[in-house]
Amino acid sequence: MKFKTIEWKDDGVRILDQRKLPGQVRYLECKDALSVAKAIRTMAIRGAPAIGVAAAMGIALAAQKIRTHRQELFRKEIENVFTQMGQTRPTAVNLFWAINRMRRILEQVNTYGVEQTRMRLVDEALLIHKEDIEVNKKIGEHGKRLIRNGARILTHCNAGALATAGYGTALGVIYAARDEGKRFHVFVDETRPMLQGCRLTAWELAQEKIPATLITDSMAGVLMAQGKINLVIVGADRIARNGDTANKIGTYGVAVLSRWHHVPFYVAAPTSTIDFAIASGKEIPIEERPKEEVTHIGGRRIAPSGVNAFNPAFDVTPHSLIEGIITEKGVLRKPFEKNLKKMLKSKNSFF
Ligand code: MRU
Repeated sequence: MKFKTIEWKDDGVRILDQRKLPGQVRYLECKDALSVAKAIRTMAIRGAPAIGVAAAMGIALAAQKIRTHRQELFRKEIENVFTQMGQTRPTAVNLFWAINRMRRILEQVNTYGVEQTRMRLVDEALLIHKEDIEVNKKIGEHGKRLIRNGARILTHCNAGALATAGYGTALGVIYAARDEGKRFHVFVDETRPMLQGCRLTAWELAQEKIPATLITDSMAGVLMAQGKINLVIVGADRIARNGDTANKIGTYGVAVLSRWHHVPFYVAAPTSTIDFAIASGKEIPIEERPKEEVTHIGGRRIAPSGVNAFNPAFDVTPHSLIEGIITEKGVLRKPFEKNLKKMLKSKNSFF
């Protein structure tokens, strides 16, 4: 990739500020956990895997900065950072998955002592970052066979390098197909209200010179009716055991349209996005964001003042509308719950 979404530096965490894209390529230099948490909450960094990586790096920063040798105090302070990170955004399970990985390291502080635990927390955060890129590339390898030469693909929101440690899930599949020499065209939903498709996906695909057309969210139906879309690939923020998938608001509508028009609808996500603790999408907490994101665009009011607005940031697509879930272990097909168990048991790739 020509840019780095997030990078560990000796004195802090460097985050590409996605609020400024595509106009400006600016980086935030976060020197403490609090500023990383703020970057996640305010969506300077966003996308399920990327916020997991950011939280882990924020925790690692705190581990480096907390000046105590007393195990109990160190543990208490890091636990406060877990809480702080966990309160940033509720829907993407990768955030809690990453915090849990860091928690397992902290739990061994009695064995390793404070000094080694500091280093072990940094190592774990760097490992989460490195693994995410590797996992994305595997998702790409498994998913690329779904893209035929000449395909016209629709995607929603941004599930690319910007939303991960650096390659992408839905866009990772597209990059892998491109690297194999396939030719295709990507249609990009603008993704109201935060315009991740318009601002981020269109920018990312342009950086990679992938042919793309931006559309408003309400245009997807007509393109499908005209037979101009053969495949939909989106990312995910949390997948329940039965395959119900939370992703950016508007995804559910795209899935319903896909079913009506017989267009296969795929979700691409790492297994860290699967929440094994929940049976169905009904249990997924949906973040509600400020009304101003709906009433304003780019800080400018577009709705009459005083109007009420509703702003759920995600919706849940029922598993029945999903053709397959492209993971690093293979493409999971229905029945998802049964095949998920089989997939996790299998040592090699699962198809
Ligand atoms: O609110 P956002 O921008 O964090 O929402 C992001 C999405 O919905 C993505 O599609 C999802 O996190 C998958 S990213 C690989």
